[in-house]
Amino acid sequence: MLGAIYGLPEQMEEAVRLMEHTGAKFDASLVQTIVVTGLGGSAVGGDMLRTYAGDKCPVPILVNRSYTLPSYVGKDTLVIAVSYSGNTEETLSAYADAKARGAQIVAVTSGGILKKQAWEDGHAVITVPGGLQPRAAAGYLFIPQLMLLQQAGLLPEGHAEIEETVRLLREMRKLLAPASPTEQNLAKQTALRLYGKIPLIHGAVGLTEVIAYRWKTQINENAQTPAFAHCYPELNHNEIVGFDVPQELIEKLEIITLTCSRNHPRVQKRIEITAGEVLAAASCGQTELAALGESDLAQMFSLLYLGDYASAYLAALYGLDPTPVEKIEYLKRRLA
Ligand code: PA5
Repeated sequence: MLGAIYGLPEQMEEAVRLMEHTGAKFDASLVQTIVVTGLGGSAVGGDMLRTYAGDKCPVPILVNRSYTLPSYVGKDTLVIAVSYSGNTEETLSAYADAKARGAQIVAVTSGGILKKQAWEDGHAVITVPGGLQPRAAAGYLFIPQLMLLQQAGLLPEGHAEIEETVRLLREMRKLLAPASPTEQNLAKQTALRLYGKIPLIHGAVGLTEVIAYRWKTQINENAQTPAFAHCYPELNHNEIVGFDVPQELIEKLEIITLTCSRNHPRVQKRIEITAGEVLAAASCGQTELAALGESDLAQMFSLLYLGDYASAYLAALYGLDPTPVEKIEYLKRRLA
């Protein structure tokens, strides 16, 4: 897992090269809505696309994590069906639903039934390299979706942003990789703070909400630990009330707040008051971690990268192998 995390910048570059030569196309003039359908590690690219494109794309982007698609999906919808393995039953079912409704479809996968099915049906397929855990393939699963929309003119050209992000991740990993000692390794320090605790990851609407959720799922899958995510401003209307129970319970929590320079000023103010005043009295730990980089993409990926490393180090602290997800595999077998 640590090797796969280390390789994220190269993975992104490889995905760019793949998309420069892809034959995957769709008719953007017909598209009124985009729905990305996928689960788990294969849904995160859709989450990031939706967030990134929120203020850039002329049509709405939604992420579907279900067997069926929303009722508005039809011929004027682009459905991007994403399954790294190509064998996830919910995604295969949603793919069949998209096909039945005459939607334009692009499949993103490393193989499996999805690749075969989409190819036989004559739909566009973007085949990404296999051999990784889906959650370790964020570069392969996100960049093709981004570039697909850029190439179709639905998003502005963004080569410079991708290059900035790759450069930043390469810089970051000098300090985050296993060889870097704890005193200068923010991911190891974060893992130590989370060790023995229940992580509460806070993001904010905009760029960090989906990254907070990604941290939660990475901690779940890599460190096999319960974790929860919530976001500003919504958490100001419920979660902050829930810290008055006995101290022994609250002491088990560790709050990580992810921030970025794109936050709405009122959201930023809310974070300051919540962390500095409202939750300051609570007996749990609190840390604020700020995104690095200039562009939206760099800021999102900088926090994702830190969380990926921190979750793998947390697994190491618990003496666990972060790669296998036996419970997920068991469930898939039982449902087969
Ligand atoms: O990261 C993981 O292993 C899971 O979250 C998978 O992504 C999830 O089970 C769906 O599988 P796939 O990504 O192959 O469609």
